[in-house]
This record gives sequence, C-alpha cells and structure tokens, in this order.
Amino acid sequence: MGLTKGDRVAVLTSGGDAPGMNAALRAAARVGAELGLEMLGVEDGYAGLIEGRLAPMRIRELDEASRRGGTVLGTARSKRFMTPGGQADARATIARERLRGVLVVGGNGSLTGARALASIVTEAGPLLVAGVPASIDNDLACTSMSIGVDTAMNTIVEACDRIFDTATAHHRTFIVEVMGRDCGYLAMTAGIASGADAVLVRESDKTEGQIVDQVVLLVRRAYDEAHRAGDAKRRVLVIKSEGVKIDCARLKELVDERLSDSPTHVDTRVTVLGHVVRGGTPSAFDRLLGARLANAALRALAGGQSDVMAGWIGPGVTHAPCPWDPYVVLTPLEEVLAQTALLMKGEHPLAQWRKRVFQEVEHILER
Ligand code: F6P
Repeated sequence: MGLTKGDRVAVLTSGGDAPGMNAALRAAARVGAELGLEMLGVEDGYAGLIEGRLAPMRIRELDEASRRGGTVLGTARSKRFMTPGGQADARATIARERLRGVLVVGGNGSLTGARALASIVTEAGPLLVAGVPASIDNDLACTSMSIGVDTAMNTIVEACDRIFDTATAHHRTFIVEVMGRDCGYLAMTAGIASGADAVLVRESDKTEGQIVDQVVLLVRRAYDEAHRAGDAKRRVLVIKSEGVKIDCARLKELVDERLSDSPTHVDTRVTVLGHVVRGGTPSAFDRLLGARLANAALRALAGGQSDVMAGWIGPGVTHAPCPWDPYVVLTPLEEVLAQTALLMKGEHPLAQWRKRVFQEVEHILER
C-alpha cells in the first residue's frame, strides 16, 4: 500500500553535500504538500535520524535555499548509523515520529543506509524508502548524472579558465587537482570542456613514473612548438583527479627535477581546488535535476513503491521510464548498490567504456 493523505514522510541529506540538494528538498516539500503528506526534514542526515532531530519542512525557506549550494538540513557521514545500536535508535525515531516514508538524498554510502531502512516494518506496514542520487563524483550507477555534478564541472571549468589566463601570461605549467574521489568523470569532462592539455585519472592505471613522463613530454613539446612557432603556446594545464594517488607537490617536484636541464626556464605551479568544487550556486540543470528526481521518488513512494532510487535515464539503463517523468527510471536499491560496486571496481560495462574513452581522449587532448 502507498502513502495516503496525512502520512508523515521524512527527508534527509547525507554524505558529501552537492549543489542542487536544496532544490531536491524544495521539490519534496512542495510535491509532498500537494499530495497531502506531512513532510519533515531531518537534520544532519542519519545522525539526526538517530537523535530524533526532525522538523516540518518550510516551503518558503526552501524556495530561497534552492538557489544556494550545500543543504539547509545539514549533512553528515554517520558512523553510528552503521552499527546495530545506531540503527535501533533510528528505528525508535521512526516509530516515535510515526513515519510512513523516508526520502534519502545522497551518494553511495547514503543509499546503502536507505537499503537498511527499507527493511523496517512499522505499525502501519513496511516503511517506504526511496533514494535520490546526489554526489559531485558521479560514481553512482543506474543514473547518467547525479545531482551536483553539473555545477561542480562548471566550477572547475571556470577555475581553469582563470588559471589559463595567468598560466599563459607567465608561460607556466599548472597542475590542477580536482575532487571526484576515485572516479575520474569530473576531471575528464571538465578537462575536455576547459581545453586542458592532459587529464590524469585513476582509471588509466598509470604508475608514478609514467605520469611524470607524460607531463614532462607535454611540457617539452609545448615549449618546443612555441619556440618554432614564435611563442604561440607556452603554457600547459594538466588536470589531475584526486583519485590519482600521487601528491601534487610531489608531482611538481618530480617534473621540475626532470626539466631542470631544459634550455628554457620552466615554472610549474600547483592548484588544489579541493572543496571549492563542492560548493557554490547550483546550475539550472542541477536545480531541475534535483526537483525532477525528488518529485519522481516521492511519487513512487506515494504509489507504494519502496527500496528504489530515482535515476536520470542513462547508458545501460534497462528499466522502463517511470510514469511521472519519461527521463526518470526507478531502479531497486539493491541493484543500484551492486552496479555501483562494479562501477567502482572498474568491472561495470560503463566503467570499461569510460576507461576506453578516457584513454582515447587523453591522446586527443595531447595532440
Ligand atoms: O564524495 C564527495 C567528495 O567531495 C569527494 O569528491 C571527496 O573525496 C570527499 O567527498 C571529501 O569528503 P570530506 O568533505 O568529508 O573531506
């Protein structure tokens, strides 16, 4: 049985925040009100659920917040929720608050938590649980885009445009490190969009020596060409995904060492964009994606579906489009988590496709 008027549904954001989360919350609050549900926001993700920190969602406040990054509910990476004690306390909150449904907005860890919630049976029947994918890393399966990716990509491109200006002015080499955990998607897409000379991603499986060779070769070639062509291009920009386990300072040191005998003086600088990539005003795409996925997920709960994630239609997605939005598919959470594990291990067809394309792009960028 689905949700009926007056049912209480909690919404939480968990894990790393992602621009567009507030837009998802706003949509949940507005659609929930439309369906006659009592919508409650949980503070700080699973930590707040354990501690019973819930309050009615305020539409006016969310209208304003949806233009901003972060999450008004707050978020956390709760270690306690992974313990039996933590889950028992969350169950107690669910019973005390008479919750019929929970909407979880977050990444892989958050959806793993959602799966655990989906096994809870309340007095009124099984707890209805749905996930909404949000993570700048774009490392979740069963959705082509997670909320936050588009904004993060735009932030990196804007930063690189700025760095290009100063790099060109000083004829320097820049190594720019970007977030993305172990997934090179952000680095690669931002690299293509910004016109970087090379992108270093974990998926390429290169050794430290091979990475240094690659950067040194690029720098030498850029300077040789510049020399021949009358100083046409004497700057190099390399984007490095944080998943490539070589520290930027060490990479700079090794590159500088190798280039110390170069006839041209070469200056290398490092910029680690870090959490700058995760904050900021959500793009229109992320606001809309957040709204559409939250809408579909909540309507799925209302229609009696549970233990599913609403994903943006993408490669390899075989499920039928959801009835409320033809660009959205509802995939069982179990499948989402299994496919995501394969993606992270590089064993998913999408991971293999990405790896192949990343290699092709690497060569194309380096021309
Ligand atoms: O998963 C999102 C993310 O921003 C990753 O890109 C990054 O590795 C990680 O979170 C950083 O986490 P924290 O903010 O807890 O340091």
